[in-house]
Amino acid sequence: MAGKQTLNIVKLKNMKKKGVPITMLTAYDYPSAKLAEEADIDMILVGDSLGNVVLGYDSTIPVTLDDMVYHTRAVARGAEDTFIVADMPFMTYHGNIDESLRGVRRLMQEGHAHAVKMEGGAEIADTVKRIVQSGVPVLGHIGLTPQSVNQIGGYRIQGKDAQDAQRLMNDAKALEAAGAFAIVLELVTEEAAADISKELSIPTIGIGAGRYCDGQVLVYHDLLKYASPYRDKRFVKTYADVGSIIRDGIAQYVKEVKERSFPAEEHVFKAEYKAEISETTLYGGKKEKVGTTS
Ligand code: KIV
Repeated sequence: MAGKQTLNIVKLKNMKKKGVPITMLTAYDYPSAKLAEEADIDMILVGDSLGNVVLGYDSTIPVTLDDMVYHTRAVARGAEDTFIVADMPFMTYHGNIDESLRGVRRLMQEGHAHAVKMEGGAEIADTVKRIVQSGVPVLGHIGLTPQSVNQIGGYRIQGKDAQDAQRLMNDAKALEAAGAFAIVLELVTEEAAADISKELSIPTIGIGAGRYCDGQVLVYHDLLKYASPYRDKRFVKTYADVGSIIRDGIAQYVKEVKERSFPAEEHVFKAEYKAEISETTLYGGKKEKVGTTS
């Protein structure tokens, strides 16, 4: 699938240099990817938030490599011209390097991703380095890292005190030194995110990390209020209430079928051999319309 993908990691770094904000959105299937591309998003993330917003899990932990490959492939079909990053799912990059590289290979060759994202800081820097050395762009992800939610003890804001902010800074620098092309900062205080963004030469992409990151990323279902299972989040802005539009549309469809007002004359195909259908012979001999199920 060779599209005319407009972005690459060199252009991305130049965007930081020139102060051009970077936009990223998650997508998980053909239609979400197609709409994101049509809206001129810079980068698509096939996030393992897939687990929460599409598959109905209560965390990202159950998401498998097969899930990620399957959804990344669908996204690649919908957004042939957009730079696509796929998440390495839970526990696929903490064993030996061969296993990590196998996962990367599947996301790139079968999923058609252009880059992978991995959660973690200094502790995964060696793995990041090996993957980058193999020619694959890696997006880092620090701050709140949902795959470690059980260790972190919940969805907590990171970088509140000087010591924690320093830990984040060290992680960011370790990932930059390992060759990451950019770093997602999730649920990080604005001050810590600003310091990291200033210090690094690679872009930071924030989600709940304030105004001073080099770019922003949001989850598709959050920004569109599309049946997102999450509680209200301070850092999310609803740009369109798609969930209500869909629910109202389905409810209207249900109502019209029950009333027998859909399909109407303009939706039907007529035969030539018969002039008229007598309604009295239909609906099991009954002509009731609304609420006839009892
Ligand atoms: O999985 C995901 O969607 C993410 C974003 C929240 C950055 O990691």
